[in-house]
Amino acid sequence: MSNQNNQILKNTNAQILDEFNASIMFDKELYAQDITGSIAHSKMLCNQGILTKDEQEAIEKGLLQVKDEIESGQFKFSLETEDIHMAVESRLTEIIGEPGKRLHTARSRNDQVATDFRLYVQDKTESIKAQLKELIEVFVEVANKHTTTLIPGMTHLQHAQPLNFGYHLLAYANMFKRDFERFESSYKRNNFSPLGSAALAGTPHNIDRFLSSEILGFDAPTPHAMDTVSDRDFALEILFNISTCMMHVSRISEELVTWSSYEFQFVRMSDEYATTSSIMPQKKNPDVPELLRGKTGRVYGNLISLLTVMKGLPLAYNKDTQEDKEGVFDSVKTVEISIKILTEVIRTMIVNVDKMEAACKIGHLSATDLADFLVQKQNMPFRTAYYITKDVVATANSLNKDISELTLDEIRSANEELKNIDEEILMYLDLRNSMNARISFGGTSTIQTVEQIKVFEEWLKKV
Ligand code: ARG
Repeated sequence: MSNQNNQILKNTNAQILDEFNASIMFDKELYAQDITGSIAHSKMLCNQGILTKDEQEAIEKGLLQVKDEIESGQFKFSLETEDIHMAVESRLTEIIGEPGKRLHTARSRNDQVATDFRLYVQDKTESIKAQLKELIEVFVEVANKHTTTLIPGMTHLQHAQPLNFGYHLLAYANMFKRDFERFESSYKRNNFSPLGSAALAGTPHNIDRFLSSEILGFDAPTPHAMDTVSDRDFALEILFNISTCMMHVSRISEELVTWSSYEFQFVRMSDEYATTSSIMPQKKNPDVPELLRGKTGRVYGNLISLLTVMKGLPLAYNKDTQEDKEGVFDSVKTVEISIKILTEVIRTMIVNVDKMEAACKIGHLSATDLADFLVQKQNMPFRTAYYITKDVVATANSLNKDISELTLDEIRSANEELKNIDEEILMYLDLRNSMNARISFGGTSTIQTVEQIKVFEEWLKKV
């Protein structure tokens, strides 16, 4: 009895260990890259006389069959072949026999996994860039419709100065453009081939790493074998780039949640993107931007996880590194769906121009313009102008008016220094004029905003 129990325990332990050790459950995601990498490796080996032409052809054909089997769902993944690299190679050998056993000449799973993973990261970097471009296009398109729509600009979430809504949206277009450029520069920095680094020190076989690099579309082979098999900077970069991008997604989502609240009513999200409550029949909830905001947390977690995995690793490869993949897959999928959904939310949101403009009449948004007027027209020191303007704000408050609604007499009565102020001031206090007065480069005036849109349109044509 006790013997039997021991037997059961042993089996179970072995199974648990297999499962613990294996990565096939998740790294099968890399099957296409693994096959592409292996075909390139076999071509290089053939070119170097390490494989015969027949062997190479058999290997390539066999690998393509494995690919078909995986894509059609026939392939049997099993814990016995620990990871995608072993799974593909062992099935290949089942199909083609001897030549399959020669494929692993002059390579190790260490450079193989580094190659596959890098190919994946490079592929995803390109597709995320394409998605970001579309998102930026939508921001610019909607911005273009609202270059004269007033919206209160805020600091500390308090009304500050009038903006146009197009300008506000262009702030996000700028954030996502920086994201695009970050992905772009990571792509360039990481476009080097690990293949042929072998286990850690290179190989005595007469390989041509430049050739396999070229076949795979990399710029060149990486320069140091040991660094290469232990390096995951490229994975950290995509995690950081995705985190920063999701931080931007989260910030616009936060604004959408606020803007669609009853108190604001600046925008209404298209019905598809708003959900109802299971208990309160009257409700329309902004679940979609809330989820976009919430998913950002998980994405940050993936970045911190991998940074932590890497921080104590001695050179060169360590199995800890197997923990690099799930977080990257998860972050990639999250950012892909998030950008896709955000693009549609922005494209379809209904902008309530009247509410935005009405909100501008609260909070004395043009107060700074009065101070600027006193500085520019009366050569007053700014600090003096600031205190005089405070008196005008107090007068407006006592009359229950916005500063932009005061009559000339009311302004003149607010402070001794203003008793002869020119009628021109009324124009300065006008909210639309206030917005349009900000003509400095990068400012909110409609003229500047239209310029900024043109620059974006030019950029979009080029990328
Ligand atoms: N599954 C492993 C990983 O993802 C592949 C490399 C294994 N190398 C090794 N020497 N055990 O990192």
